[in-house]
Amino acid sequence: RIILIDFGGQYTQLIARRVREAQVYCEILPYSTPLAQLEGADVKGYILAGGPASVYEAGAPRCDAGVLALGKPVLGICYGAQLMAQLLGGQVAHAESGEYGGVAITLEAGDPLFNGLEAQATCWMSHNDRIGQLPEGFHATAHTAHCPVGAMACPEKKLFAVQFHPEVRHTPFGQDMLKNYLYDICGCSGDWVVSGLVESMIADIRKTVGKGRVISGLSGGVDSAVASTLVHRAVGDQLTCVFVDHGLLRLNEAEEVLRVFRDEMGLNVVYVDAKDRFLSKLAGVTEPERKRKIIGEEFIRVFEEEAAKIGDSDFLVQGTIYPDVVESGVGNAQVIKSHHNVGGLPKDIKFRTVIEPLRSLFKDEVRALGLELGIDEKAVWRQPFPGPGLAIRILGDITQEKLDILRHSDAILREEIALAGLDREIWQYFTVFTGMRTVGVMGDGRTYDYIIGVRAVTSSDAMTVEFAEIPYPVMRRISNRIINEVSHVNRVVYDITSKPPGTIEWE
Ligand code: XMP
Repeated sequence: RIILIDFGGQYTQLIARRVREAQVYCEILPYSTPLAQLEGADVKGYILAGGPASVYEAGAPRCDAGVLALGKPVLGICYGAQLMAQLLGGQVAHAESGEYGGVAITLEAGDPLFNGLEAQATCWMSHNDRIGQLPEGFHATAHTAHCPVGAMACPEKKLFAVQFHPEVRHTPFGQDMLKNYLYDICGCSGDWVVSGLVESMIADIRKTVGKGRVISGLSGGVDSAVASTLVHRAVGDQLTCVFVDHGLLRLNEAEEVLRVFRDEMGLNVVYVDAKDRFLSKLAGVTEPERKRKIIGEEFIRVFEEEAAKIGDSDFLVQGTIYPDVVESGVGNAQVIKSHHNVGGLPKDIKFRTVIEPLRSLFKDEVRALGLELGIDEKAVWRQPFPGPGLAIRILGDITQEKLDILRHSDAILREEIALAGLDREIWQYFTVFTGMRTVGVMGDGRTYDYIIGVRAVTSSDAMTVEFAEIPYPVMRRISNRIINEVSHVNRVVYDITSKPPGTIEWE
């Protein structure tokens, strides 16, 4: 394993992610960790991560300098590079001009870290301080126009440092450089996979929970599903899952969730039929934010009532994953839509502890874990579905009739996308009930019926999206089937808006 020492930088988790992508297990420890805990026969190397401080400031975070003298490889990145320089007697100072963003860099041939890489490259920089004087035994191995020590090394002692950020995609050679470090310098074999984590995660959960009682909200979404299944593996029926059906799910979705998690996986699932309750609260409401607020609040109320019936729980399972952690850390963004996670929960419920077993994992790792736990592939690859469900895909007020039309058309779309083999490459695809009616002709008669919108987007993170380029023959089938099979629909339109400026959902 590799130990990654954290100095509070925003990219620490991303470095861990890249190391794991290279199939090497990586653990993040705070800089204050005592040397004894940093050592271990199974530790192949260390990475000192970035951080916002300046190494020469009083109180700047420092790790035990002993880590540089263990005889194991150490790679310093940005702040970690500067700290390495300073701890070994070099000097770090404020640079006259900082470097931010993509910068041209020259890599020295012959440095093992840059083995096989082009000498002239682009890297991502983000620093105001720089290494002014190298520690003894080191030489500079890369430079930029404004930074004479873009990287430094003392290969005899297996110490390496880079001022740039190899972990971000804007450093195109970054991953190859990390692989050089991990495989050639540290001697890692690169055969780690996320499934190797299952046993230790289960052991951790058991230790935390003891004989306590645990409750979780199950929505059918992959995060809450994997988190709940993991906890179930650890503590069995000490876990109760609450599945609230707000009546805004897709066709057969509730049945599917129960089949997979209750029947196949054996989780103890309490099904709460709250359909009427939600529908009556939503009756006549047309304003999108109102809908979202009503659903969010009602959901909390239902969950609280069910939790009270089950009795005191000591723990609440949350399906928080790493991108959620990052996003919630980013404060002042304007509220575009008030997101509500069904299955994610009331802030004011009193539970002793929240368990978030997936907190350090990325979506694809969560999926891999889900498959490892034996969860049905369809559930593991389920496309994202918003907490407020179909309510935000019906423009205007919500009625049972509109829900039925929307569900039916959406099921057809999903079937056709899957048949065309496009279900994994399209990020999200669904139909929208526009509420608009147009004139058409069917057989020999005039029709005056609803327009269904089709939305399908490609994305890697939902932050920016492009509309999906679904082949016309597939579009034609989708349109024909929806118009022929769903009553009261006589027209289908395709949404060709990217995000920004559009959002994925229509409300
Ligand atoms: P937008 O429409 O903002 O959606 O581009 C981005 C992603 O978030 C999903 N979404 C939600 N997910 N609760 C959720 O759990 C919500 O309230 C919510 N609103 C939107 C949306 O489906 C897309 O994947």
